[in-house]
Amino acid sequence: MNDSASFAPVPGGVIGQPLSRVDGHAKVTGRAQYAAEYQLPGLTYGVLVTSTIAKGRIQGFDASVAQREPGVLAILTHENIPRLAKTPNAKADQKTLEGIMMGFMPLTGPEVFYSGQPVAIVVADTFERATHAAALLKINYQAEAPIASYRSPQAQLFDPKDTGDSSDLSRKTRGNPQAALAAAPVKVTATYTHSINHHNPMEPGATTAHWEAADRLTVYDSTQGVTLVQQTLAALLGLRQEQVRVVCKFIGGGFGSKYNVWPHTVLATLAAKAVQRPVKLVLRREQMFGPVGHRAPTRQTLRMGTDNAGLLMALGHHAKTATSTFDEFIEPAANASHTLYASPAISTSHEAVRLDTGTPLFMRAPGEAPGSAALESAIDEMALACGMDPLAFRLVNYAEVEPITGKPFSSKALRQCYEQGAARFGWAARPQAPRQMRDAAGMLVGWGMGTAVFPALMFQGQARAVLLQDGRGIVETGAHDMGQGAWTGLAQIAADALGLDLDRIEFRSGSSDLPDAGIAGGSAHTATVGMAIDGAGADVIGKLADLATNDERSPLFGAGNAGLIARGGRLHRRDDEARSESYADILARAGLAEIEGRGTGAMDPAAQSTYAMHAHGAVFAEVTVDPDFGQVRVTRLVGAFAAGTVVNPRMVRSQYYGGMIWGVSFALHEHAVIDKRTGRPMNPNLGEYHVPVNADVPSIEAILVEERDVHVNALGIKGVGEIGITGTAGAIANAVWHATGVRVRSFPITLDQLIEA
Ligand code: MOS
Repeated sequence: MNDSASFAPVPGGVIGQPLSRVDGHAKVTGRAQYAAEYQLPGLTYGVLVTSTIAKGRIQGFDASVAQREPGVLAILTHENIPRLAKTPNAKADQKTLEGIMMGFMPLTGPEVFYSGQPVAIVVADTFERATHAAALLKINYQAEAPIASYRSPQAQLFDPKDTGDSSDLSRKTRGNPQAALAAAPVKVTATYTHSINHHNPMEPGATTAHWEAADRLTVYDSTQGVTLVQQTLAALLGLRQEQVRVVCKFIGGGFGSKYNVWPHTVLATLAAKAVQRPVKLVLRREQMFGPVGHRAPTRQTLRMGTDNAGLLMALGHHAKTATSTFDEFIEPAANASHTLYASPAISTSHEAVRLDTGTPLFMRAPGEAPGSAALESAIDEMALACGMDPLAFRLVNYAEVEPITGKPFSSKALRQCYEQGAARFGWAARPQAPRQMRDAAGMLVGWGMGTAVFPALMFQGQARAVLLQDGRGIVETGAHDMGQGAWTGLAQIAADALGLDLDRIEFRSGSSDLPDAGIAGGSAHTATVGMAIDGAGADVIGKLADLATNDERSPLFGAGNAGLIARGGRLHRRDDEARSESYADILARAGLAEIEGRGTGAMDPAAQSTYAMHAHGAVFAEVTVDPDFGQVRVTRLVGAFAAGTVVNPRMVRSQYYGGMIWGVSFALHEHAVIDKRTGRPMNPNLGEYHVPVNADVPSIEAILVEERDVHVNALGIKGVGEIGITGTAGAIANAVWHATGVRVRSFPITLDQLIEA
């Protein structure tokens, strides 16, 4: 394992050290409080009733039996739930609700737009009584036939050009792909599909809503964006933003399903208003399959052509997908072909249809995950058509500038990823033809690889830093720890920003009372909030330096701001580090109890327009396939990734593992089966909707490849959360081909596809 701290933005600092999670003890002892673990006085329990039809209208409810059950406090439907001040369903409200990312709010009328749509909420004094009463509520539906398959000829076409935000998804072209393809002597055309994926974090969607007064609401919500929830609830409920407080200290996994505000969070606040007591509402596992987003299915066609030396001449990537009838999200799968391979002609395009489904949204590398599964499979097929080793093929088509834009990369250590990953895996010993290797048990063995890529994004985030007279520091930011280690990694950045030891810093996070840290998503949180903290620290240290250098009683008098170093709770002269003064002494002499600084993290627009900024990686997979039954097992995964500064190698490695495991999951496990007649998911549970367990991932390694990026941000941080998924699914599909000689183009790869082939 390579734990060498690579480039350290603060020499001698704590960034780059493999610290354990500061919240680890609280988590394993159960003291870490999640959204459904606030035992408020008078707490009641809300249970959602969700639609059993995918399209139609509710004609009426019969609550006569349910409401007689003991402990029932309220049965709320669109007929009697407290009204929202604004709803996204009302045309008049849509303008003022722009940006809240909710096209439709349930329980505002009788219409049903998707299976699993919340249609009622039952509140009782215990969870069991609420669950029982919810089962007794009778609903009379007028059902219509849903359009549930994106292959359905009746499905209405959605043109992504309709929406401002997604307009760049519709089509991108460089060069003349059609002519280049026609002229190419070696060609491959292949179509890949994958099933719907649903987010299944261990902690489902969960909200505890507490009206402390008629105009004061506190919500404990499992969310990747406390401020977004605060703003959305305030807008919908007709409150001012400061009248709503949203708390989320820990998240039991999100994967994108907690990226925006879903109906259950809003409904919990309305239920709490109705019963005038706090309400806790937790989605049941099957309720995660409908109202909280999912990854839409895609059907991707790749067209490639090379010259006789294996150099790409044309690359075309077209993705067809689906969205809901009321939202605009489409999975940007074809964009995966913009960045990796140096084809002089590229075209990417998307089309989508509208289905009677809960809306799809961000899920675990949205776009890049399915896009790279298809692209990396197609590259493997192209390499084979050229008679080349798949790694050699990738190296001759290595992009020195970003192919679609022509921009230079801000940094790109992909060559080193290929080298280090291949060496560790033993790729050089791979026979080129399939079906050449067997293990001791007679299983077919195959080796495959894929390239990983993910954009280095930053959103908007803010932080506040305070130095106290006793020399301690406080850093505040409303950030989110969904398991990635924000409590630790961001605190490490805070320690270096303030020049304090980690144990001298109090790191406060996870509440909308704190500066808005934006959304934890897009693998952008550490870079965004890290830069905000870095800026807040610099602001404080700058003020402190002013105090010292302008005071003739200070040993730092006259040193000038630029000439100081902050370390270990002291400012030192850069030219003579022995001359120093403690923060406490500087503040005491100035008669100040504390000083405060603020910082903002955001993408540098100049860097963004000049450079293509991405993290990269290479994933190598070994699988075994049972020659009789087609069962696939992943036996080895080696990933090598370069993503700029490694804030904490232990946590970064853990992110890569998680991503690669999701790649295994995409390739072999996750498969939501939809009944096309009813539009209902047939396996909305973890017994039948499979995700990998330990036995599915016996050996996994992540190599941290050194990379210094001076353009992405001053700390040089790129994201690490999602890149591990990319490359991995393709690597596994390619390994399955190498084991069997059978090319499966439909994910997940299941044994029937191998047996039938
Ligand atoms: Mo991520 S899918 O941006 O939460």
